[in-house]
Amino acid sequence: MDLAAFRALEPLCWRAPSAHNTQPWRLDHRGGEVRVGWDPAYALPASDPSGRDLRLSLGAFVETCLIVAADAGLRIRFVADHRVDDRRVGWLRPGPHRYDTPFDAAQVLTRRTHRGRFSAGPDAAVVAAVDAVARASGGAVRVVPDADLLGRLLRVADRWTYADPSVVRELRSWLRLTPAHPAYHADGLTDRCLGLSGREAAALRGALAAYPVLRRLGLPRLLAAASGSPLALGGAVLVLVGPPGTDDAGQVEFGRVLTRTWLTLHAAGLAAHPLSQLVDALATRDALGTLLGVAPQRLLHVARVGRPVGPAPPSARRVGGVGQGVR
Ligand SMILES: Cc1cc2nc3c(=O)[nH]c(=O)nc-3n(C[C@H](O)[C@H](O)[C@H](O)COP(=O)(O)O)c2cc1C
Repeated sequence: MDLAAFRALEPLCWRAPSAHNTQPWRLDHRGGEVRVGWDPAYALPASDPSGRDLRLSLGAFVETCLIVAADAGLRIRFVADHRVDDRRVGWLRPGPHRYDTPFDAAQVLTRRTHRGRFSAGPDAAVVAAVDAVARASGGAVRVVPDADLLGRLLRVADRWTYADPSVVRELRSWLRLTPAHPAYHADGLTDRCLGLSGREAAALRGALAAYPVLRRLGLPRLLAAASGSPLALGGAVLVLVGPPGTDDAGQVEFGRVLTRTWLTLHAAGLAAHPLSQLVDALATRDALGTLLGVAPQRLLHVARVGRPVGPAPPSARRVGGVGQGVR
């Protein structure tokens, strides 16, 4: 009964965040349970070869489903059961009670990645709150203390991103730099969400089209430099640290933790701007690990966090439309 009612809420569940906004999750209703799986065509093999961001995104989706169901009064629980051969992370099943969460569907709907200017970073109380969320699952949230080093690492990570043709090709396939793009309202990263003016979006389109020819002539360096430093836009950089020995199922669990930290920030009037390139590039991930005194494999996610000076545009979804409701 509760699972049948849950079906109507799925468009809201799709507001979950995912890397490059690929929305890789798939729900499959089977009798009295719902399989939570993924479609490999929506993974990011070039930029996320280990699948870390895929698993974080799937965990984010699971947590979002549970919050949305609880808000509607439905008794649904998640049973983790990560199986790569079946491309599933687990099952949504009828539960004895509503999922216990301080968050609600309105927060799911209004939370956004914010890539713009922040007037302030998180204060000590907010950092302690998100750290407590991660600690409850055996992890931690750490603030990166050295802004100068961070700036240097970000430049290295950006250059690394743009130096790899397969990563650039994959990014390009998820960029929606003009409203004329057929998938503009469905998925990917729009010019608006990236905060690009019409001229900037056109320049990036042109540069990416010329990439195969200009790559050896220094285009990767130019692209990295042209993207500017998000650190100049304010806020503090926070790292989500997993427990020692976090395995694939643990990364899915930490996708759930990631959602709880983002909703904790959102409830406090703050937002996150992920900088995954810092943990994608092994050199910068190692340097960050050394800086924080944490084994690099435990660094799961990095984001600039702060109080936005203005609203962020809503990102697209394949199901449920830009804000809400089924398209
Ligand atoms: C695991 C993960 C990694 C992400 N990495 C980045 C990133 O490196 N840079 C970025 O700008 N956004 C990143 N994002 C944010 C997504 O692009 C964003 O969630 C998606 O576009 C949907 O937008 P929304 O969060 O506003 O709903 C990441 C999100 C997730 C869940």
